[in-house]
Amino acid sequence: MTHFYEPAQGHGLAHDPFKAIIAPRPIGWISTISAGGVVNLAPYSFFNAFSSRPPIIGFSSEKLGDSLANARETGEFVFNLVTEDLAQAMNATSASVPPEIDEFELAGLERAPCRLVRAPRVAASPASLECRVLQVIDLTDLDGAPTGSHLVLGQVVGVHIDPVYIVEGRFDTAGARPLARCGYLADYAVVSELFKLRRPA
Ligand SMILES: Cc1cc2nc3c(=O)[nH]c(=O)nc-3n(C[C@H](O)[C@H](O)[C@H](O)COP(=O)(O)O)c2cc1C
Repeated sequence: MTHFYEPAQGHGLAHDPFKAIIAPRPIGWISTISAGGVVNLAPYSFFNAFSSRPPIIGFSSEKLGDSLANARETGEFVFNLVTEDLAQAMNATSASVPPEIDEFELAGLERAPCRLVRAPRVAASPASLECRVLQVIDLTDLDGAPTGSHLVLGQVVGVHIDPVYIVEGRFDTAGARPLARCGYLADYAVVSELFKLRRPA
């Protein structure tokens, strides 16, 4: 018999397994700027890509945080790829700090300019995606009640890749050693190896 539970009634385990089941999750390290010019950077693992033509990505904020406010206000956000080397800095940028704090400074990260949006990108990141907001979906539950989570979807309008990670015309995912969010509070994984599996004809 499986351990079955209905989330609304509790999971019956010592720790909620939901995020350990939906794992590993890519981390969207989201840089934004407020209308007043304050820069913000924070990690989001409720993050993914949803379309390739055009490229569309999104992150979900479970609070009324600065990334959400800035994306709503300016219609722009930037994805930065988090790697193993950047784990400590990424974690530092997740601190709950007042909006006037620039997390680039907090984490000792160098900024690099974007081309099409005002927010800066993380200079040390192997790849960054400049996005314009398509929709902010205020998520509701089965009763139509607000959940407090807000899904920000954006179309990628500009892509930066560090040439070090372009090998034979391909982005070297394993070489970049991307960090992924796993189960419980402090769990992460690093992608360091790939294998090939061709789709049936
Ligand atoms: C690896 C990692 C992933 C996170 N993913 C999310 C997420 O998907 N949604 C969320 O609301 N908070 C997430 N957080 C917490 C936010 O980063 C944190 O609340 C941060 O203060 C939000 O910053 P902001 O208000 O500047 O946007 C995550 C934290 C870490 C360390």
